[in-house]
Amino acid sequence: MSYTKCWLAYAPMGGCHRERLTLACMEAGDVLEAARDELRRGLEGLYGASVETAAGHGDITLEVDPALEGEGYRVTADSGRCAIAGGTPVGVLYGVFALLRAVQLQACPWEQVRLEEEKNPSSCLRMLNHWDNMDGSIERGYAGNSFFFREDAVLVDEKRLTDYARMLASVGINAIVINNVNVKNAATWLITPRYFPQLRQYTRILGRYGVKLYLSVNFAAPMELGGLPSADPCDAAVLRWWKEKAAEVWAELPLLGGFLVKADSEGRPGPFTYGRTQADGANMLAQAVEPYGGHIIWRCFVYNCQQDWRDVKTDRACAGYNAFMPLDGQFRENVTLQIKNGPMDFQVREPVSPLIGSLRHTHIIVEFQIAQEYTGQQRHVCYLMPWFREILDTDLKTRPDNGTVAALIRGKGNGMAAVANTGDDENWTGHDLAAANLYGFGRLSYDTSLSPQQIAWEWLRQTFGQNPPVEQTLHQILMRSWPVYEKYTAPLGVGWMVNPNHHYGPNVDGYEYSRWGCYHRASFDGLGIDRSPTGSDYCHQYAEPLASLYASAETCPEELLLFFHHLPYDYRLKSGKTILQHIYDTHFEGAEEAAAFYDAVLHLKPYLDEAVFARLEARFAHQKAHACEWRDVINTYFYRKTGIPDGRGRTIYP
Ligand code: GCU
Repeated sequence: MSYTKCWLAYAPMGGCHRERLTLACMEAGDVLEAARDELRRGLEGLYGASVETAAGHGDITLEVDPALEGEGYRVTADSGRCAIAGGTPVGVLYGVFALLRAVQLQACPWEQVRLEEEKNPSSCLRMLNHWDNMDGSIERGYAGNSFFFREDAVLVDEKRLTDYARMLASVGINAIVINNVNVKNAATWLITPRYFPQLRQYTRILGRYGVKLYLSVNFAAPMELGGLPSADPCDAAVLRWWKEKAAEVWAELPLLGGFLVKADSEGRPGPFTYGRTQADGANMLAQAVEPYGGHIIWRCFVYNCQQDWRDVKTDRACAGYNAFMPLDGQFRENVTLQIKNGPMDFQVREPVSPLIGSLRHTHIIVEFQIAQEYTGQQRHVCYLMPWFREILDTDLKTRPDNGTVAALIRGKGNGMAAVANTGDDENWTGHDLAAANLYGFGRLSYDTSLSPQQIAWEWLRQTFGQNPPVEQTLHQILMRSWPVYEKYTAPLGVGWMVNPNHHYGPNVDGYEYSRWGCYHRASFDGLGIDRSPTGSDYCHQYAEPLASLYASAETCPEELLLFFHHLPYDYRLKSGKTILQHIYDTHFEGAEEAAAFYDAVLHLKPYLDEAVFARLEARFAHQKAHACEWRDVINTYFYRKTGIPDGRGRTIYP
């Protein structure tokens, strides 16, 4: 299947033609060759120039400068001369992409391009987690099937993999996990000779772009593959099995980065089965992979998914902190804990997980989700960078100087990961605008100081070329999309009002009467979850002054009010509106704004490629209709619970 080039289209820049450019590269090697190829491809596309290799100095010079940080780069361009230096070949490659980005943003003849940019990555690990299954399906995939797996085979589509690696490198992503964290069936066998030849090709193809391959592994592999009676991490035979396995795996895949593990979560096996701690499990694996420079990424999404609703003290939000905080400092150097951004599960709004700030002696990765599981499943537009920006800027107050999430993920062993949003759809991400989340996540992980506005501009310019009506309209839509989605879905941080299992579309009580522990507790007397000291006291997992701030409804930020408090429907918000009226208003407004998005997109027809317009038109039409469904289901539910009509007399449809 053919596919689009996303933001690497390098469409000709009108009026900036240039016949010829020369390029000199001081050293040889695969990654530098990839850097040269990219520069050639980019400049040929943008300027229509032929790019020739020069000995000595050229218009552009690429070099490795060990004085720079490994994945850092420095680009200077002025009066037709450009020097790109990187601490390593990967740094050079990043510098090349920085130059190409700047050329497109400046959109001027080559001689006029000016750039002075020196950057080092904000964090070491900038990863994507693919939840691809080996049958070719993707758990929470909204853009077709896997381009890694089909019918239990590992696909090696060199062209598509290379183009994917180029996209990732262009935004600074340096690692991917290709298989789902829920490792079952054939996926357990990825660490066996059955799949080594194909995986070796992956490490080669990805490695050329500075992207490391990681694999999710099954904690029970010693039983399933090795026939051992247990997977107890403190059993010497189990450790021996993993040591032998690691020796075998790294002999075959020397470039492998390491393993990602989901243990003791949602039915997956783990150390709890044997009365051991999460540290016992992670350290055992870490010991096995350590001789090969291997790395264990251990997820903190550990909670009891068999909850009794009457037990208000057991709160899923508390679980990650309770399981991992006591273990701080016990993990080996090559272990990183991966923590979801919020304590629940990628809702449209959640507080930042307190575990992120509280661990002091443990490496951490913050896990985001660009697969839009709860944010419109790539049928609704929902540009997540404004949300991620807020998360990175949140100061958890656990450090005397700077306790922001962005500061906490700096340094060795730390980073950011996102559940990926790509599949084998022609445009990679289903919704054309969802590619902005892939682009944006990468950019933000490399440079956590970027603004969502800037990222959106960059992405639009590189994706659609110089196209002012498209840039302006879509920029506005992107920037409004997350607040609008929030308005017509679940109010004031309460989350979860979705259909069970597939998680799409409104169903207020979908999870209320099931065991998963994601309640909203809407009742005749009010709505929201009491996480103050009278409830689960989750708020005291935060340091002061956040704990007190969240503990009181008076001071709790309103966008999270119902995440922390159960309040009556006539409770007055700062706007003077009651909670109920706020729900009505935001749902009416959100649906209206979604309709306005659709109208705005219709005006772009003359300025967009036909196929792109057709895809956008269909998705925005669906969003408009589906936002009405959300509005009606939610408003009707609360109208019927309370018997109080809309203060503005609008019709609430059944
Ligand atoms: C969510 C998601 C699951 C996924 C899980 C995880 O619960 O719905 O599909 O497996 O998160 O992050 O492990």
